[in-house]
Amino acid sequence: MSEVLVETDGKVGIVTLNRPQSLNALSIAVMDAVSEALGGFDRDPEIRCMVLAGLPKSFAAGADISEMKNIDGAEGAEKMLSRNLSNWDKIGSLKKPLIAAVSGFALGGGCELAMACDMIVASETAVFGQPEVLIGVMPGAGGTQRLTKAVGKAVSMEMNLTGRRLGAREALERGLVNRMVPVENYLSEAIKLAKLIAEQPPLAVQAAKAAVNAAVDRGLKDGLAAERRAFYGLFDTQDQKEGMKAFAEKRKAVWTGK
Ligand code: CAA
Repeated sequence: MSEVLVETDGKVGIVTLNRPQSLNALSIAVMDAVSEALGGFDRDPEIRCMVLAGLPKSFAAGADISEMKNIDGAEGAEKMLSRNLSNWDKIGSLKKPLIAAVSGFALGGGCELAMACDMIVASETAVFGQPEVLIGVMPGAGGTQRLTKAVGKAVSMEMNLTGRRLGAREALERGLVNRMVPVENYLSEAIKLAKLIAEQPPLAVQAAKAAVNAAVDRGLKDGLAAERRAFYGLFDTQDQKEGMKAFAEKRKAVWTGK
């Protein structure tokens, strides 16, 4: 059985982590496969939205500690890990929306992977944490940055400095996740949300995603300028004309992605 499962459901591309024996520890091979599969969906004109799912017991329990434990020195760490960590960057740079379907453990690199997605659908059993400090290191794939932006400095400090975990309810209350559902529904709910996004005009969706990310990744002034440019740019598209015409004609718009 493959460690990364890749399938489609209509216009939704689904990638599932499937390494139950190690609670979905993110080995270099697994992350290469995830990044490649998502990159393929991002380039596939038939796909409009993506879901990255874990297993009910564990989304991912972090980077694979067995691959890291013998690394000696900063130089060795960079040599061995930089290409792997660049997979998180690649996933954070996908143009199409990506929804994480999280149940069980989302720890260390697993939490960072969920946060590199655009939205998170969590099961009631989901737990989020950056426990790297407990094994003598710190997050290396966005855990100090994305977590702080999502939940604020106070909680991020506590999680990063003590390994404190957030349960699904607290993650929902603090805005880390979009919704919390019973464990049997976390994947179907993520796919439902992805299908809703897949029905929308794709160019507008991608432009809005990039503009929201600009709000998170840059200062307000730069973010507003990026939003303005993307907004004007959409008036070059047929979908803008169709969308506004359909509204005036009181009918459902037909999106062509042009
Ligand atoms: N890497 C490699 N193997 C892992 C793993 C990981 N991150 N997490 C769990 N496993 C393995 C265990 O070694 C164990 O394997 P064996 O059965 O062969 O012994 C198996 O998965 C089941 O794990 P446990 O027996 O520990 O299960 P548990 O239910 O008692 O505990 C847990 C679950 C709390 C998630 C615990 O496994 C744990 O703390 N895991 C490590 C979490 C962690 O520290 N993650 C951060 C990694 S560093 C990182 O991610 C760096 C970064 O920023 C990119």
